Amino acid sequence: MNILLLGSGGREHALAWKMVQSHHCDQLYVAPGNAGTAAFGNNLPISVTDFQAIGDACIQYKINMLVVGPEEPLVKGIYDFFQNNPDLKRVIVVGPSAQAAQLEGSKAFSKQFMQRHGIPTAAYASFTAENLEEGRAYINRHSLPVVLKADGLAAGKGVVIANSTEEALAVFTEMIVDKQFGAASEKVVIEEFLSGIEVSVFVLTNGTDYQIIGHAKDYKRIGEGDTGPNTGGMGCVSPVPFMDETFMKKVEDRIIRPTVEGLGRENLTYYGFIFFGLINVNGVPYVIEYNCRMGDPETEVVIPRLRTDLVALFAAMDNGTLRDANISFDERAAATIMAVSGGYPGNYAKDKPINIPANLLQNQDSMLFHAGTRREGEEVLTNGGRVLAVTSYGETIGEAAAKSRAILEKISFEGMYYRKDIGFEFPC
Ligand code: AMP
Ligand code: GLY
Repeated sequence: MNILLLGSGGREHALAWKMVQSHHCDQLYVAPGNAGTAAFGNNLPISVTDFQAIGDACIQYKINMLVVGPEEPLVKGIYDFFQNNPDLKRVIVVGPSAQAAQLEGSKAFSKQFMQRHGIPTAAYASFTAENLEEGRAYINRHSLPVVLKADGLAAGKGVVIANSTEEALAVFTEMIVDKQFGAASEKVVIEEFLSGIEVSVFVLTNGTDYQIIGHAKDYKRIGEGDTGPNTGGMGCVSPVPFMDETFMKKVEDRIIRPTVEGLGRENLTYYGFIFFGLINVNGVPYVIEYNCRMGDPETEVVIPRLRTDLVALFAAMDNGTLRDANISFDERAAATIMAVSGGYPGNYAKDKPINIPANLLQNQDSMLFHAGTRREGEEVLTNGGRVLAVTSYGETIGEAAAKSRAILEKISFEGMYYRKDIGFEFPC
């Protein structure tokens, strides 16, 4: 099978690494890819939202399967674009329809969906310019802290946890009146603050059957001890010690199954990953958010622990045999640590040469996944905020994280920073 993978992050490098291990994968193409994905397939200089060029490439390279990494092309309807084109209809698309991708693309849509299907989530209300005063009154009555969310995609910046009513009112005005995130904040969801530990669960579904392919805990803040501004993710560990059978049963019974059944009942066409962003409130799981894709850097620990052939799973998703798939995991723990550019998540420089010693990973239980990198001649240069991720296996999370740190000590680029405390709560 010829496969085209869309995206250019650490997630896509990890997916590429996994897919080329499958005997079902003949040739892999990645658009646009990064310096790491080029080792597994042909990088194509095509934007993930240029559907026409992606479709043309699928015809030119006789692509059988399109695997969509990031959310933007899904929310913009790449699944539907392929379905509606007679020459592309035969391509297996791993990713939901635009309508179903609204589970990530609109917070209000996902909250209404959860409400319709009795899926536990924080209490909420949503407002627009039309009922601004009602929104202000709602905030004035609300307990603190209160969570405000821009309805649409806002590159991970659309959520504010306000500790005072004044702050909440100011953020509410900025989002709706000042259109801080453009159309994405024309509608704002205001919700109850839930206190607990966040964890993510990953499922592959065809809208009828599903398989759980892993879970992870990520570290979102830039600073050690979970301090400072939020980022796309500074590291991840898996498995998470509290995700035992009892907790997972609650997640499956109260959240995963009702979600997949809800998709079916509402005729939402969904072939792809669901990322359940959960919070464990004293042993009770709630949904914080749905994403219609894998996470980054969650993929960099979930995929290395998945023993099952991923391309075979995608084929099973397509041909109705997903239910019978055998999922098995590497028993070892995995930890990934992201190296980022100095200044990230604020302004940062690009094009810094990255020094990666030859034979860095020989005889080690570690993998290096590129994120924001590009190759220029013999050199690998930084090309983004999150630059690379080092994933290691270990008998414990602590051991896995220590191995990743040891590898990162040998890599350097100007301004390089990484958190040295990934997995700190789980030393053994
Ligand atoms: P979201 O984009 O909805 O995942 O929100 C981003 C982050 O904001 C989450 O990962 C949480 O850390 C935090 N967050 C969102 N909603 C809530 C909530 N209801 N209670 C507490 N924290 C929240
Ligand atoms: N690491 C969080 C995300 O991929 O959305």
